[in-house]
Amino acid sequence: MQFNLRNYRAADFERLWQIDQLCFPQGISYTQMDLSGFITRRNAITLVADFDELHDEREQLAVSALHPGDGMNSRVPGAVLSETAATTQAIAGFIIAHPARGKAGRILTLDIVPAARRLGLGSLLMQECEHRLRCFGCNEVYLETAVNNEPALQLYRKLGYQILRTLPDYYAASLDAFLMGKPL
Ligand SMILES: CC(C)(COP(=O)(O)OP(=O)(O)OC[C@H]1O[C@@H](n2cnc3c(N)ncnc32)[C@H](O)[C@@H]1OP(=O)(O)O)[C@@H](O)C(=O)NCCC(=O)NCCS
Repeated sequence: MQFNLRNYRAADFERLWQIDQLCFPQGISYTQMDLSGFITRRNAITLVADFDELHDEREQLAVSALHPGDGMNSRVPGAVLSETAATTQAIAGFIIAHPARGKAGRILTLDIVPAARRLGLGSLLMQECEHRLRCFGCNEVYLETAVNNEPALQLYRKLGYQILRTLPDYYAASLDAFLMGKPL
C-alpha cells in the first residue's frame, strides 16, 4: 500500500478530527477547538498522509469503518462525512508537531486509521516530522503517550525515544502518561 505525504489543507479539518475521534477514546481524543488550536499554532507542522488509491479492499473497509452508522463512533456527525466524500475520505493518517521552547520540538498527535496500521506509515510521518523540526533548528523532540498505549510505546521505542518521566493523571485526570524524548 502506498501513501502520499503532503501539508495540511483547511478542507482536511473535519476529517482529521473524525480520525482523532476514531483513534482515541472520549476524554483523550481532542475537541475541535483543541485540534484547531494545535494546527494554527505558530510554526505548527501538520502532515497528512493520503492513501494512494482506494482500490485496495482494506482501504474500502477503512472508509466503511468510519461510517457513523456502524456504531464505532457515535460522536461522528454523519452530515460531515457525506460532505467530505471522495478526496478527504482517502486520508490514512496525520501528525501534528511544533517547535516549542528553545530548540525542543514537540509531537502533539499521531493518528493512523486502523486499516493503514502496521504498514510503516506512523514511522514515516514521525521521521518526516522530525526532519521538519530539525529544519526549524530543533535538536531534541518530546511527546507524551498514555502508559497503556503499547502500540505507540513500541513505535516510539523503535524510533529511539526513551521514557523520561511519568506524568500522573495526564489524560482525563485519571490516566498517567509517559513523557518521552530523544535528541534529533
Ligand atoms: C500507534 C500508531 C500511531 C502506530 O502507527 P503504525 O502506522 O501502525 O506504525 P508502524 O507501522 O510505523 O509501526 C512501526 C513499529 O511500531 C511497533 N508497533 C506499531 N503498532 C504496534 C502494535 N499494535 N503492537 C505492537 N507493536 C506495534 C512495531 O514495532 C512496528 O514495527 P513492525 O510492524 O515492523 O513490527 C497507530 O497504531 C495509531 O494511530 N494508534 C492510535 C492512535 C495512537 O495511539 N497514536 C499515538 C498516540 S501518542
